[in-house]
Amino acid sequence: MTVSETRFPVYELISPEKNTDPIPELHKLRAETPIAWVPVLDAGLLTRHVDIVSVLKDHRMAPANLTQGMRLLPPEQQADLVPLRTAVEKWMGHTNNTDHQRFISLLKRYFTPAMIDSFRPRVRELTHELLDEAAKAGQVDLVADIAYKLPASVIAEMLGVRTSDRAQLLTWSADIAAIAEIVSYDRLMDCQRSLLAMQDYMLELVEERRASPREDLISMFVAAEREGIVDQPEILSNCVMLLFSGHETTGGLITNGLVQLFDNPDQFELLKAEPEHMPGAVEEMLRLAGPASVISRTSTEPVEVAGYPFPAGQQFLLALNAGNRDPEVFPDPDRFDAKRSPNRHLAFATGMFHCLGAALARMEGDEFFRILLSRFPNVSPAYEKPSWQPVFLISRRLKSLPINLQGSDVSVGA
Ligand code: HEM
Repeated sequence: MTVSETRFPVYELISPEKNTDPIPELHKLRAETPIAWVPVLDAGLLTRHVDIVSVLKDHRMAPANLTQGMRLLPPEQQADLVPLRTAVEKWMGHTNNTDHQRFISLLKRYFTPAMIDSFRPRVRELTHELLDEAAKAGQVDLVADIAYKLPASVIAEMLGVRTSDRAQLLTWSADIAAIAEIVSYDRLMDCQRSLLAMQDYMLELVEERRASPREDLISMFVAAEREGIVDQPEILSNCVMLLFSGHETTGGLITNGLVQLFDNPDQFELLKAEPEHMPGAVEEMLRLAGPASVISRTSTEPVEVAGYPFPAGQQFLLALNAGNRDPEVFPDPDRFDAKRSPNRHLAFATGMFHCLGAALARMEGDEFFRILLSRFPNVSPAYEKPSWQPVFLISRRLKSLPINLQGSDVSVGA
């Protein structure tokens, strides 16, 4: 038993019930202790808003490296996965501080408020197209048919990916998701194959844009390459990263958000009558059911967390889903309140690694729910209980979400 295990209450992670409904236990923990100990990872679990924010703003705390889990595999398996590790280590957020700053400044050239606004009409169009298709079927699976396809199409268009290739990219991206999940050698080998295939695909686009630039993200990268700001391996790695982070999480916002609306019929009615509250509702969806429920940090120097000293190299799990329901910050924290203000939730983290795509994800969520509720005011669940599956630690994802659109498209004949 380590010193920390004797200092703090122990939190065992490997339990499907906890992973699919972690909230009751997290509420209990937060009330009892600032830090719980996760022995399987030898990591401290933080659940209080104040402690999570202070770790996120601490320059001595490095973000998780998604390749960390691979180190638990036998050496010969790790050797097979070197190409995957090399690519992911170039992802923004996995590099050192100087490279990170260089990437933030570069990507902020593209992700401007004006650019997000200019994409709004296209997001509307894509939402209508997906809903037109879904309406024909009557009952659809929001997960498979709509929620991930919308943000995937948006980020693919931003990158400049050909429309005809989008389905292939989604298939690769589903394999790449393994990088953020519980480690299995076979899954990681699939992940590596798909990631390398996607990078080869991106290389073709990079070459096309070198010959004839356009207005897209890849052209922006190619221009920065010419200025000596990035090199080709970084471009390829980060195009994959953007495609992956641009839709995995936003898809979760849409699916988890709709479950929240079904569970809160008063808010559902409010939004139908007064859609101007939609931005506030999206914030509540993010707060109560944000798709990034836990992120991690490792101390690079000796630090003090929640009043306790820790050495360098200590890992911490930041339960954003627990901080987002901390009663010290959010009165009546489990209540969905589209009019809640202020709403200082942590769904996009905060500090140096605050989500680059936050404004884009907010805009997509806002458009999607406005259009869904105005066209299908009678949309209803076609499930008894949502099919949550544990993803990693205290994270969960919906396997499917059957919903009924039948007979409720008010735009038909309008
Ligand atoms: C609802 C949707 C989203 C959620 C909940 C979300 C959540 C997060 C969180 C929690 C982080 C911080 C991770 C950490 O510090 O360990 C993050 C970082 C990041 N996100 Fe998002 N994200 C979303 C959508 C997007 C989109 C649409 C994009 C891309 C277009 C994106 C790109 C990024 C990038 C590049 C980073 C790394 C930032 C950095 O290293 O400075 N995200 N996101």
